[in-house]
Amino acid sequence: MSAKIIDGKKVADLTIANLRKDVEQWVERGNRRPFLKVVQVGNDPASSAYIGSKTNACKKVGIDTDTTHLPDTVSAKDLKKSIIQFNNDDSIDGILVQLPLPSHLSSHDVIESIDYRKDVDGFHPMNIGRLSVDQPTFKSCTPAGILELFNYYSIPVKSKHAVVVGASNIVGSPMAVMLSRENNTGKATTTICHKFTRDLTTHTISADILIVAAGHPNLIKAEMVKEGAVVIDVGINRVADETSERGYKLVGDCDFDAIREKASWITPVPGGVGPMTVAMLMKNTLLAAKKSIYPD
Ligand code: GUN
Repeated sequence: MSAKIIDGKKVADLTIANLRKDVEQWVERGNRRPFLKVVQVGNDPASSAYIGSKTNACKKVGIDTDTTHLPDTVSAKDLKKSIIQFNNDDSIDGILVQLPLPSHLSSHDVIESIDYRKDVDGFHPMNIGRLSVDQPTFKSCTPAGILELFNYYSIPVKSKHAVVVGASNIVGSPMAVMLSRENNTGKATTTICHKFTRDLTTHTISADILIVAAGHPNLIKAEMVKEGAVVIDVGINRVADETSERGYKLVGDCDFDAIREKASWITPVPGGVGPMTVAMLMKNTLLAAKKSIYPD
């Protein structure tokens, strides 16, 4: 079997084109253009690249944005002060603090200081909690983007065995919640694996849907995947590549070439999940501007 490719770039471009129409209608009706405030602490090159993709998408969708840069030595108090100022600024609809943060800062404290009504990443405990009980919420962008891909390609989730590798707050945990809820996008039997899981293969081999968000290049090899499985690779790892001008290339967590021969569907890296994450951030920012999740 040679897997069909899940073209996240194409679906993200379609999503962005539709969101652009929604934003224009919103503005034509006399509303202010949505505004996304991005906060970058330090100068991590990968974070700068992700922020570049996000602000670029804002331009395409017609969302206003700017980035506040803070030094990597910023104190927790000063960072919180900035966030509170953005919380209180009625011209700001969404706030995104790019992670990871320098080690002296607690990402939990920083995320909790964001007004949950502006938490377009969907990381605030209020939004994660509401996700867990099926209440309207800002859905974390990467897992929400993966569900959009299943919907676009008519890949069924209900009653399948979904195995999520990686239990992060950003991807693995909310992904497992979304897949396991008894709603229209869920109803999967869900297993969550992490770095303490013994014999990972015993779990991955039984997955109808395998979602890998571990941040380890080549973690998942073909012999760990069931014939005909749907494989979603969330990993974005930089590995040295002398043939590339920038000196590195991006690879996922899965051995793409070998798994492609076994899976029924597979996402490439880059061009799979990544663009969908950004598209979902745009969707959440418009929802925030419209106050659709949390009306006044
Ligand atoms: N770092 C890696 N992924 C993300 C994301 O989706 N949002 C934020 N804010 N930081 C990240």
